Amino acid sequence: MEQDDTKLQFDPHGNLRHLLSLRGLDAKLLTELLDDAERYLTTPGALPARNQSLAGRTIGNLFFEPSTRTRASFDLAGRRLGADVLNLDVNTSSRKKGESILDTIYTLEAMHVDVMVVRDAGDGVPAYIARNVKDHVSVLNAGESDVSHPTQGLLDLLTIRQHNPDFKNLVVAIVGDIQHSRVARSASEALQTMGVGELRLVSPPALAPDPERFPGARIVDNIVDGLRDADVVMALRIQRERIGNLDGVPGIDEYFAKYGIHHENIKHAKADVIIMHPGPMNRGIEIEGTLADGPRSVITKQVTNGVAVRMAVLNRIGKMMGAR
Ligand code: NCD
Repeated sequence: MEQDDTKLQFDPHGNLRHLLSLRGLDAKLLTELLDDAERYLTTPGALPARNQSLAGRTIGNLFFEPSTRTRASFDLAGRRLGADVLNLDVNTSSRKKGESILDTIYTLEAMHVDVMVVRDAGDGVPAYIARNVKDHVSVLNAGESDVSHPTQGLLDLLTIRQHNPDFKNLVVAIVGDIQHSRVARSASEALQTMGVGELRLVSPPALAPDPERFPGARIVDNIVDGLRDADVVMALRIQRERIGNLDGVPGIDEYFAKYGIHHENIKHAKADVIIMHPGPMNRGIEIEGTLADGPRSVITKQVTNGVAVRMAVLNRIGKMMGAR
């Protein structure tokens, strides 16, 4: 996303209209969204929170890349706010027949779809759609290439805040294929805005990021240095679908020993460390299965928070639409 596109996210009154990136969202807005999300969380076993704030609105889920959690949680979030939700099956959609993405969008617009939730492997696709939709339509980025995944960044921020809201004193280590990770990008943008104490990006040199994409972060290639006294550890999958050439990337056993999160190296983190993973998880590669299921893991909490965060974003967009 281009720098100027951060402005594209707001309507002329300064209200959030499209969510394309966490860049350009200040600490106040991030905090409000997290506070709103908290209000949608109910105790396990209780009925999920529900209201009718999006009644009459239609949300279209357009996922041109695979997804389990993000798509299901946008679907549930929309339904729990009373919206109609259209899950476009991209494998049978006309885009497969060569229809341009804009023709798909115009078709949905003509059916009164008000919110387009878009996941695409192309850099800049959500912003391109946002620049081309009619005034009544909002676009939410549900994963853009290796660039941005804003609702994932919000749910990660919420999960970290629930553990410890004192961002300025937190050490956060993100471990894995940082170079190709939109999750790492959005989490790091949100954490920097909140003034995180220290952000470490730990990866083998072949998967290390361009430092310019992660201002203020420390790039580390030794996992023990990366995990030392960390309050939060986030493991990431190797994004094979975005890597043309795996030269220099260690094989599975070496990768797990050197860059996987396991019982031996997690001892270097704080005793109350939380272990995160956005999913999908490759047990025995980037994370040891028993750690993912263990008491320090907040991985399922992230999933629960994902629905709440998407409800908060949709509710805010719905209010903006109602105020027009
Ligand atoms: C991530 C994604 O799609 O970027 N998953 C998710 O949204 N929960 C991470 C990944 O695919 O590895």
